[in-house]
Amino acid sequence: MRIEHCLSAIFTGNMEPKIEIRKGTAGAKADLAVILYRTDRKKAPSHAGKEEWNGLRGLQESGQSSVLLRGIKDQRLYCAFEKEAAPDALEKARVAGADALGQAMKLKASSVLVINDDAPESLSWAWVEGFVLASYQFLKYKSKKKDARGSVTSLLVHGEGFSDDQISEWNGLLAGVMLSRDLINEPLSHLTAEQFSKEMEKAGKKAGFTTQILHKKQIEALRMGGLLGVNKGSIDPPTFTIMEYKPKKARNKKPIVLVGKGVVFDTGGLSLKPTPGSMDEMKCDMSGAAAVVGAMYAIASNKLPLHVIGLVPATDNRPGMNAIVPQDVLTIMDGTTVEVMNTDAEGRLILADALVYAQRYKPELVIDLATLTGAAVRAVGTYASAVMGTAPQPVIDSLAISGMQTWERMVQFPLWKDYGDEIKSEVADIKNLGQGNAGQISAAKFLEHFVDYPWIHLDIAGPAWTNSTVAYRTRGGTGVGVRMLYHFLSTHFLKAE
Ligand code: BES
Ligand code: MN
Ligand code: ZN
Repeated sequence: MRIEHCLSAIFTGNMEPKIEIRKGTAGAKADLAVILYRTDRKKAPSHAGKEEWNGLRGLQESGQSSVLLRGIKDQRLYCAFEKEAAPDALEKARVAGADALGQAMKLKASSVLVINDDAPESLSWAWVEGFVLASYQFLKYKSKKKDARGSVTSLLVHGEGFSDDQISEWNGLLAGVMLSRDLINEPLSHLTAEQFSKEMEKAGKKAGFTTQILHKKQIEALRMGGLLGVNKGSIDPPTFTIMEYKPKKARNKKPIVLVGKGVVFDTGGLSLKPTPGSMDEMKCDMSGAAAVVGAMYAIASNKLPLHVIGLVPATDNRPGMNAIVPQDVLTIMDGTTVEVMNTDAEGRLILADALVYAQRYKPELVIDLATLTGAAVRAVGTYASAVMGTAPQPVIDSLAISGMQTWERMVQFPLWKDYGDEIKSEVADIKNLGQGNAGQISAAKFLEHFVDYPWIHLDIAGPAWTNSTVAYRTRGGTGVGVRMLYHFLSTHFLKAE
């Protein structure tokens, strides 16, 4: 058998996802071979004899889509696919990839070879995506890295659709997701705002985007009262990080700006969160920022011809001797005064400054991502994000399609004036709290106050974090947003033309 390509992936959760791609050699051996084939094929797939093929068909008819066959010397896993690459078929393929990773681990395989016989290209890539993402684990703080989940250190890909360019593109993209997960999984003890900014700078150096870090003095000079206000209870200074990828051949004249909520830990501030159940997952409160960093990483690594800017306001939110208190008034960068009714509604305060800052770019489109409200989780659970915005509806629809394709789904909510009435304040221009119901919408109405460009807001509070591994969504930060943003930018702005 000839092996065209090798994709070797070792992810150790050390904030440096190691992906190495190299050309394979003919006859390279692997501990497990996986054969992807289409259910409607007439002949036996690779390495299956007539009897095995009959057996496979029987199992297929009974609804089983993946079967492990053991030869005398070899282990072969057969995965059957439909011929249509519909969104749910893509997701099934990712889950099948994750299952295969599980099988490989059971077999203690360290190398896996996947052969695409005749499965649709997009499905075989989805399979690879699921396989690689399922191998993720965060081991940085384990002294014994042995209880490592993944014995698998390399994935060789062969066959239809696994071209050099695509291998390289997927490596870039998946490294972006891994980076995003790593950043989310870092605890505050190791990821203060300053440290987070340095990680963004590191990512930029690796992937090829520029990074400018604004420190507290500069943030004060800009009068970012929201970010400074939230930071008042902290002893660690805030940062405001500007990432920029501007290739010479950019197809867009006006930049696309991605904004991410970078609350490195959210205790709620003086409006303290109860714990357990509420505060104990809040290192994930910079997942929006992590999605932006991961997307920037993928975009720059893969040299998408798009001018993209990433903005991350970062701070922790905690009570302290000088922390803001309810009824304080803060002044956002544009002069808007905000009455703080609850210090736990801090995300919108720091995002307000970032959204005002984004105005200077006269952007084509701004997308912000934020673990903003528990209301978004109550509304749609962990299966989807809440989406709202002022961008033309076809653009929002296009983003939602990318959400379906990548299974980073979203449900749209309205931005009716009624919800805006809820955030009127007696003493300041607006307040940071609505009446209680539909909190994801009053939060978005708050943000809308600060935008003068086409804008889409994604409340990712539900899908950003998972306490237990489900298929390729491994425990901890999921890296949600990265694949969807990459898909959207590379289709909506590039392939649509
Ligand atoms: N970071 C939280 C939102 C959150 C909740 C993220 C669950 C991930 C999982 C946010 O800062 C917050 O505390 N929101 C408050 C707002 C409220 C006080 C208006 C909330 O949703 O309870
Ligand atoms: Mn909060
Ligand atoms: Zn928060």
